[in-house]
Amino acid sequence: TTTGGWSGSDLRFTPVAPNKEDALTVPDGYSSSVVVRWGDPVLPGAPAFDFDNQTADAQNKQFGYNCDYVTMFPMGRDRALLWVNHEYTDETLMFRGYTGGATATEEQIRIALAAHGGSIVEIEREGSGQWKLVTDGRRRYNRRITAQTPMKFSGPAAGSDLLKTAADPKGLKPVGMLNNCAGGTTPWGTVLTAEENFDQYFVNADKLPPEQYAARYTLPSGASSSSRRFDRVEERFDLAKHPNEANRFGWIVEIDPFDPDSTPIKRTALGRFKHEAATTVIAKDGRLVAYMGDDARFEYVYKFVSKDRYIPGFDRHNRTLLDEGTLYVAKFTGDSPKAEIDGTGKLPSDGLFDGSGEWIPLVSGKKSYVDGMTAEQVLVYTRVAADKVGATKMDRPEDVERNPVTGSVYVALTNNSNRTAAQVDEANPRPSNKHGHVLEIVEQRNDAGATRFAWSLPLVCGDPNDASTYFAGFDKSKVSPISCPDNLAFDRDGNLWISTDGNALGTNDGLFVMPVRGKERGYLRQFLTVPVGAETCGPMVTPDQRSVFVAVQHPGETDGAGPDNPSSRWPDGDQPRPSVAVVWHSKGKKIGA
Ligand code: FEO
Ligand code: CA
Ligand code: CA
Ligand code: CA
Repeated sequence: TTTGGWSGSDLRFTPVAPNKEDALTVPDGYSSSVVVRWGDPVLPGAPAFDFDNQTADAQNKQFGYNCDYVTMFPMGRDRALLWVNHEYTDETLMFRGYTGGATATEEQIRIALAAHGGSIVEIEREGSGQWKLVTDGRRRYNRRITAQTPMKFSGPAAGSDLLKTAADPKGLKPVGMLNNCAGGTTPWGTVLTAEENFDQYFVNADKLPPEQYAARYTLPSGASSSSRRFDRVEERFDLAKHPNEANRFGWIVEIDPFDPDSTPIKRTALGRFKHEAATTVIAKDGRLVAYMGDDARFEYVYKFVSKDRYIPGFDRHNRTLLDEGTLYVAKFTGDSPKAEIDGTGKLPSDGLFDGSGEWIPLVSGKKSYVDGMTAEQVLVYTRVAADKVGATKMDRPEDVERNPVTGSVYVALTNNSNRTAAQVDEANPRPSNKHGHVLEIVEQRNDAGATRFAWSLPLVCGDPNDASTYFAGFDKSKVSPISCPDNLAFDRDGNLWISTDGNALGTNDGLFVMPVRGKERGYLRQFLTVPVGAETCGPMVTPDQRSVFVAVQHPGETDGAGPDNPSSRWPDGDQPRPSVAVVWHSKGKKIGA
């Protein structure tokens, strides 16, 4: 109950128990349905999905594989465009008898290229909170973006020698996007989609000269038997022949969902790494800020701050903001004595893992702040630049989101099995961090444009019976166990929604919600679970709070499973199909009520 000011949340649902069911499990009183699944026809002329007779031509017109980031662009009350990332393909689940890229048919490789990227699909509401794919002729905005879609570079590294290839001697026209994981939106109504583990698509990185930092970007040597061997269909994926091609991936890509003919733009001012998110905020002085994570063990948290101000309604001007500005990387300093961060997860004597931090500038347009690196090198080899300035190595920075009510910024740090006891610090306080944690940033003056901030860890994940867990001081007997936070989202009330990837507690992944202020701060409850082998992506609570969308990624992806012995048969009782689902309250109440 809210009495004048804030005194709790409106979250009243009965949490879902951890389970291993091959189902999307939602709380009592809620319903769910699948909005769109891998292979659903989304473009004119697309055939119906046929698992055993899939073709690249069909896949180019059908919904892609492994849905990840989900966002919505309303077109009135009951219609919207849905954007969905297609992060990667799992050929062992897509094709019977698949034994690796070296033996795959060229058609299978072409299907995989077409199943990557993203989709824009028109959806409409039915009833209070259910949404369905529009399947008739009205869907004029529907679009597939794939690993073969023509794109362009913009910003200070566009046209750089580091981005030039035989096929694109000016370094301006990359082709396709790969491994798009989380993302964000802009105030002018476009999608920002984040290329994450792009390294895995290339071969022969051992042929690259050291100044291309192949190891720092974990580009594979030779042609490992597990790789997809895209090079067998498109030679550009062979770095021995096209050494700069890998530099053309690992960017934030901007796509205009309302212009199906627009060319996606790789925004070089935002740096190149294994991008996870791009959450935009307007700073107090009007500049545009984008928060970003680099999801790998011991990588960094970044933000970009535009040079010019956002001007509401001045679309032509606003669409230049992501091309000029300063790229920063975060340094987190603890405020407790080093001896009190002892690796047990025990809180230090001041009662909190917390401290102060600064955003260290790396590059601003053509100006580099990093000794020995040009601006173009900082933008293309951003990880190397961040190493040199002493940024803080984190436990896999995944999604970054801002609370629309308080302005605080949250970073999901999903896990880090490799951190040793000697490497713990107050911001990453557990060695062999299996379950991950969530970090809260309060920018100075609550201004996203600030270069200093305070931080703390409101959530240290795991089984609440594990003494190294922390739920913002809330009664741990009441909270749900949680492991491996990945994607974050806020509802309009400022509750933090957390989806998980890789539950190390042995049960299925799911979606959780936790108030981050008031007396229920830390009261984490599980809202849904996803089927066997799946991770939970999205999530997105609609602005009217009547629906929550989740992407059910890689159902059935368990060791040894395949089309002849599937470990999941979700959603149709047949082969597992990655899908976007929507959940709503059966009586039309607010999500979480
Ligand atoms: Fe694709 Fe970082 O999860
Ligand atoms: Ca402290
Ligand atoms: Ca992710
Ligand atoms: Ca993940």
